[in-house]
Amino acid sequence: MNELSDLLAPTMAKDHPNLPVVKEEGCYYYGLDGKTYLDFTSGIATANTGHRHPKVVKAIKKAADELMHGPSGVIMYESILKLAKELRTVLPAGLDCFFFANSGTEAIEGAIKLAKHVTRRPYVVSFTGCFHGRSLGALSVTTSKAKYRKYLQPSGLTYQVPYASTEGCPKGMDPGKFAAVKLENDLTSLFKHQVTPEEVACMIVEPVLGEGGYVVPPAAWLKKMREICSKHGILLIFDEVQTGFGRTGEWFAAQTFGVTPDIMAIAKGIASGLPLSATVASKELMKQWPLGSHGTTFGGNPIACSAGLATIEVLKEEKLVENSKAMGAYAREKLLEVKERHSVVGSIRSIGLMIGIEIMDPATGAPDGEGVISILNKCLEKGVLFYLCGNEGEVIRMIPPLTVSQDQINEGIAVLEESIAEYEAERLPGRKLQNV
Ligand SMILES: Cc1ncc(COP(=O)(O)O)c(C=O)c1O
Repeated sequence: MNELSDLLAPTMAKDHPNLPVVKEEGCYYYGLDGKTYLDFTSGIATANTGHRHPKVVKAIKKAADELMHGPSGVIMYESILKLAKELRTVLPAGLDCFFFANSGTEAIEGAIKLAKHVTRRPYVVSFTGCFHGRSLGALSVTTSKAKYRKYLQPSGLTYQVPYASTEGCPKGMDPGKFAAVKLENDLTSLFKHQVTPEEVACMIVEPVLGEGGYVVPPAAWLKKMREICSKHGILLIFDEVQTGFGRTGEWFAAQTFGVTPDIMAIAKGIASGLPLSATVASKELMKQWPLGSHGTTFGGNPIACSAGLATIEVLKEEKLVENSKAMGAYAREKLLEVKERHSVVGSIRSIGLMIGIEIMDPATGAPDGEGVISILNKCLEKGVLFYLCGNEGEVIRMIPPLTVSQDQINEGIAVLEESIAEYEAERLPGRKLQNV
C-alpha cells in the first residue's frame, strides 16, 4: 500500500497519521500491520454508529440491489423522502425542508446561496477560527487556518468577527454574559464601520468550534447571536456538519444550546460514512429558492439515503445520543484528573463526545503542536488512534464512535495518559515518569 501512496496528491494523503488499514468494525480499525487499533477519531466524527454497523451495512446492500443512482429531478425514490421524514423527527421544529448533497462543504454552499436568494443581500458574516469547507465559497467563510486561503483570494463579500471567548472576564461576572456583551460590541462596531446590517444576508457559525480547536461557547453567546440576527432580518446558519447526529450529547448542538437557526448544514454522521449531506431550512425559506437555481447530480444518492435511514434507526434504538452524553461526561471527569497530574495538559474542552485536550508549554502556556504529534504517535504505537485540531495543531481531538463503552474510554485514556507522561519525561527530563 505504502509504495502506491505517491499516486495520491500529497495534500490528500500525508495528513496525520495516514494509517494503512484493511478493515474497520465498531470502535476499531484493523491495520495492514496486523494490529488492532482502538479508534477515537470516528473517521472525523462520521462513524457515529460505529464502523460498519451491521444494520447500516444491510441497508446499503439492500439499496444497491434496487437503485444505485438517483439523478435529482430525473427520478424520484422512496429512500430520499423517508429520510427527509425521519430527519424531521430529530431536528429542531421548523427545520423541515431539505436539499440533499454529498459533502459538508456542499451543504454550506447551499446554505449561503439560499440565504442570499431569500434576503437578496450580498454579505455574509462568519467567525474567526471556524472551518466550513474548502471550496471557494465555503473558504470565503473558513478562517481556521490561513494556509487554506493562501493564493485563493476568496470572495470579499464576507466579514469576520471573533469567535466566543471568555478570556478577560472580570471576577464575579457571568462568563456567558461577558461573551454575549463582547459579541454585541463586535457586531455593533462591524455594522457601524464596515457594513450595514441591512446588507447582511446571513451569519454562519459552528455552534462548537471544531477544526479551529474544539471551543465550546457559552449558550448565552449563541442566544445573543440569534437575537441580533432576528432584529436585523439576518438569517442564522448553524454549521452542524461536525456537531450533528448526537455528537454533543443531543441530536444537534442547536438543541444542546437551546438556539434554533434559520438554516442548518448537516453531513458527516448522517449516513455512517457514506457521502451525504443536507442544507435544511423551513419550507417557507426553501420556497423562495427558485426552481433550477441550485441542483446536484449525485446529491441524495439512494444508497446513501438508505444508510442515513438506518443510521437514525440505530442511533434511536441503541440510545447512542444518550450514550454520547453519559460517556462524554465520564471521559471529561477522567481527563480533568489527567490534567491535574500533567503540566503539559492545558484546558479540557468538551461537550458530549466532542472532546479536545489542549497541550501546551507549561512554562509559558504557549500552544505545543509538536507535542501533540509526539503524543499521538506514541498513542498509535500503543494501538489507540486520536486526531488533532487547533490553529497550531495544539489540541488532541477525541471523537470516538457514539457506541463507545466505559471500558474503551478507560483503555483509551490510560494510553493517552501514558503517552503524555512519556512525552513529559522527554521534554522535561528532570521530571520522573509517573505511575499511571
Ligand atoms: C464544521 C465543518 N464544516 C464543514 C466541513 C466540510 O465537510 P466536508 O469535508 O464533508 O466537505 C467540515 C469537515 O471537516 C466541518 O468539520
